[in-house]
Amino acid sequence: MLAILKAVDVGRVYESGLIFKKRYAALEGISLEMEAGKTVGLMGPSGSGKTTLGKILAGLERPTSGRIFFAGKEIGSMSGRETAIFRRAVQMVFQDPEGSLNPRKSIGQSISEVLSMLKIPGRRWQEMTGEMLEKVGLSDELLCRYPGQISGGQCQRVALGRVLLLQPQAIILDEPTSALDISVQAQILNLLKDLQRDLGLAYLLISHQPEVIRFMAHDTIILVQSRTS
Ligand SMILES: Nc1ncnc2c1ncn2[C@@H]1O[C@H](COP(=O)(O)OP(=O)(O)O)[C@@H](O)[C@H]1O
Ligand SMILES: [Mg+2]
Repeated sequence: MLAILKAVDVGRVYESGLIFKKRYAALEGISLEMEAGKTVGLMGPSGSGKTTLGKILAGLERPTSGRIFFAGKEIGSMSGRETAIFRRAVQMVFQDPEGSLNPRKSIGQSISEVLSMLKIPGRRWQEMTGEMLEKVGLSDELLCRYPGQISGGQCQRVALGRVLLLQPQAIILDEPTSALDISVQAQILNLLKDLQRDLGLAYLLISHQPEVIRFMAHDTIILVQSRTS
């Protein structure tokens, strides 16, 4: 099967220091493939480059070496149209669910914002919002509330729902449950599994919890602490 996303020998070097330049390899020689309906688990200590790799795969950051392919095409050499498809098809969800939503916008406004960006006609918003809320297990009572007025688990469901409106093929999940209580974590992980089964999503799941990776991942990659040179 053709991988949705593929990283080949990817590395990222950061430079720091004004006079004595220090080169810091945040990531070195990483290769992986993400396939429809499958989860790649990504583990490693803090600072080992997990978020950096996630951002590179999502096209939010560039690698300094190696190559990324989306549906068989190298992302640097895609046409404008192909890049637009890639940007929509690959999404990232971050650890802090509340921080991923604008605190000054109601949940309903945050959802409408995405529908508006997608140029969905206004008459379809209510129906699409309803369907989306159902997918992520939320009630429409939440629409008039603000991020500070719903729980962390509910925030993460809204963040996921917003991403689902884009009809992604792959989602990079950067410690999506580590800010949540254990019981809520299990609910979100089960939701992620159900969505993957129903929608054929490819996941990269970043976690420092071995039990989370065991529960979710079909393959696992473990990063080690990088070096300064
Ligand atoms: N924009 C940046 N500029 C310089 N160094 C960075 C930048 N982003 C991350 N780093 C460094 O790269 C390393 C890996 O970071 P990160 O990918 O966030 O690790 P993890 O998610 O595994 O904790 C860290 O040492 C971090 O300080
Ligand atoms: Mg991180």
